[in-house]
Amino acid sequence: MKHLHERIASRAATVGVIGLGYVGLSVASALAATGFRVIGVDIKLDRVARINSGECPIEGKEPELPELIASVAKSKKLVATADYADLAECDVVLIDVDTPVATDHRPRFEALRAACRELGKVLKQGALVIVESTIAPGTCTTVVAPILEKASGKKLNDGFFLGHCPERVMPGRLLKNLRELSRVCGGSTPETSDAMVALYRSIVQGKLDKSDCVTAELVKTAENTYRDVNIAFANELGLICEAVGADFRRVRDLVNESPGRNVLLAGAGVGGHCIPKDPWLLVHGVEGFTPRLIAAARSVNESMPLHMARLVEDALEEVGKSVFGTKLAILGYAYLENSDDCRNSPSAALIEHLEDWGASVVVHDPWVPEYAKPIDEVLRACDAAVIMVSHDEYRSLDLAAMKKLLATPVLVDGRHVVDGADAKKAGLVFRGLARGRDNA
Ligand SMILES: NC(=O)c1ccc[n+]([C@@H]2O[C@H](COP(=O)([O-])OP(=O)(O)OC[C@H]3O[C@@H](n4cnc5c(N)ncnc54)[C@H](O)[C@@H]3O)[C@@H](O)[C@H]2O)c1
Repeated sequence: MKHLHERIASRAATVGVIGLGYVGLSVASALAATGFRVIGVDIKLDRVARINSGECPIEGKEPELPELIASVAKSKKLVATADYADLAECDVVLIDVDTPVATDHRPRFEALRAACRELGKVLKQGALVIVESTIAPGTCTTVVAPILEKASGKKLNDGFFLGHCPERVMPGRLLKNLRELSRVCGGSTPETSDAMVALYRSIVQGKLDKSDCVTAELVKTAENTYRDVNIAFANELGLICEAVGADFRRVRDLVNESPGRNVLLAGAGVGGHCIPKDPWLLVHGVEGFTPRLIAAARSVNESMPLHMARLVEDALEEVGKSVFGTKLAILGYAYLENSDDCRNSPSAALIEHLEDWGASVVVHDPWVPEYAKPIDEVLRACDAAVIMVSHDEYRSLDLAAMKKLLATPVLVDGRHVVDGADAKKAGLVFRGLARGRDNA
């Protein structure tokens, strides 16, 4: 371990990164830019080819990342491959594969298992393996270590070392968060945590806290669960405001004047790869009691797209139409503003409800190539427009032009981007999430 620590500190270590998605590609590029030789592995051949040609495969506003990838690919400090054999020379290997949950909320660690199996076959003697993917508490001990031991024939803390350093990035601020936010370096031994700190110090300006693996696993899943529960509270308060005819934003502003209160914004749904599944990872495997609050929060957040469908139904009713047989324009398909990330898109859930009720749906999203058509084309002859994402483009919509394009002048805003009075002035029938009709 001392030798490895020195190789890391002098940046002589070769670093492998398995999974070149949002997280893996960012950390691989950052490490390569700081002087490490980095070998990135992904099973998607097109992604591997694009990265090696210096192209950023992530759409959306991602400051500095395209330039960084172009530079480290050109200098060959970062080389992408689909062949695990290329990891045989790596002193450190980060695992950044996706870790979703199934419909029954249980973790689906197929990618993690496959990565550990394939890595184990070529793992260098004395290498440090760091799981960066978000995992359920106990996964390093019960899943990762046994698979690596079996596939490599080496023993943990003897033939190889293991750590968990969860990521705190998010699309739109991948490199900024990577550099600036603190990280937890959970090692299987204190010396492992020390070596992890040496590695991350090269790219992270924030604090590096040492812990064991299970603490790191708990911290990451807990911080995203905290967010989910807080969003659920905002959503439930928004639904209460709507039901009693009050303006949620005004209530929220005044509540937040009370010391220590910070109510979030209510919204049309929670998407992305992380927040909808990390609460399930946190509670996975808990024995002896049934966590209640976390599941209830998930249920509130999962209900928001259905609530949006009801707002559309209510607005159409005002103009004498039912959802059946209408053509509806959904504005925004990514889960986050100004991003192309569509994983667990609340819009997809909304569309399912509306189609079940007999509507046909067209989608616009400036950041998602499949839906990046001119907005006028999408709105033309539709019976309603539904804003699901607060992309910059939707913050400056020409409401009068929208009214002319729509066959039926209905606008539903799930993200607080349109002033209801402006919409009404433009002649639109308007519904806003978490706004009573009179406060639209
Ligand atoms: N996206 C975020 O903002 C974010 C933030 C913090 C943590 N995380 C966590 O980081 C992990 C990765 O998330 P992501 O958003 O980068 O996912 P992603 O889907 O963008 O990337 C995962 C990559 O792993 C590749 N992959 C899958 N199986 C593989 C295998 N067996 N071998 C090699 N490559 C394989 C996929 O092809 C994909 O390119 C997840 O656990 C996630 O929860 C994500």
